[in-house]
Amino acid sequence: MSARDVRIGPTAHYTAYAWHRLGLPHAELFATSTGAGLFWTLRALGEWLVVLHPRLPSMLQYLEARHRGIEAALEDARPDRVIELGAGLSRRGLTWAARGVPYVEVDLPHMVAAKQERIAAMAPSALRTAVAGRLTHAAQDVLAPDFAGWLRQAVAGAERPVVIAEGVLGYFEPDERARLAGVIAAELPPGGRFLCDLRAADGGAAMRVAVRFLKAGIFLATSGRGARADFTDEAEIRSFFAEAGFRTAAPVPVERATPHLARLRQGVRIWEAVR
Ligand SMILES: C[S@@+](CC[C@H](N)C(=O)[O-])C[C@H]1O[C@@H](n2cnc3c(N)ncnc32)[C@H](O)[C@@H]1O
Repeated sequence: MSARDVRIGPTAHYTAYAWHRLGLPHAELFATSTGAGLFWTLRALGEWLVVLHPRLPSMLQYLEARHRGIEAALEDARPDRVIELGAGLSRRGLTWAARGVPYVEVDLPHMVAAKQERIAAMAPSALRTAVAGRLTHAAQDVLAPDFAGWLRQAVAGAERPVVIAEGVLGYFEPDERARLAGVIAAELPPGGRFLCDLRAADGGAAMRVAVRFLKAGIFLATSGRGARADFTDEAEIRSFFAEAGFRTAAPVPVERATPHLARLRQGVRIWEAVR
């Protein structure tokens, strides 16, 4: 396991607390004191300035568009299996598994252990029974050489598998992102989908401010580890998916899922790539 990636862990507490603030199903189970502390510290340190700006999203609005956008694309895909990479303390796996969809949450060992403890301690027994055998957790470093073999087994037999990486690729170096996208494309069957969020540097001054603010928040939450380089523009993102081996790739229209946030300049877009 890469020790450097352990520092990304606190951001999972932050986002889990955001899902709770948004009132999303089962998010209350993963609202930790670490998440609450980070959330309110960031608000006090200057996020309130962004909250007052008419076109810039607050961290909560940015995360809402991202999470609900992925959720809407997942609904459209009608998956028969979901593999979520870097799932952290997200409430999505529990929610979809309770609906009957086999769901595998992948993360580094310390995060998987924290999540399993949280579910055992906080989830009502009826919910634990409902997801038994459908929600599974895998301690895997997605950048490790043996990840491809693991993923091959994980998607075997699925007809409409979807791989998700929410709030994950932005922490990786460009060559690591390319390698991981290549592994996902190679292991998904034809028609399999990959949903992820990616930042591009184009988009004008308001977008640059939004991205700068977002990265400052990430720097704070990761004790200085920070986010990695952005893509230059949409064309570079399209080539990234094509070179990885995906047949098509397009941004997900998140305004459909969050029309109340459509006026905001989001610094990050959700992409759906199809094998
Ligand atoms: C910003 S959090 C996002 C959590 C969740 N996807 C969400 O949106 O709420 C990033 C997650 O990626 C995980 N992660 C970082 N590097 C990883 C790696 N090499 N392999 C697997 N998981 C990793 C972290 O432990 C963390 O849980």
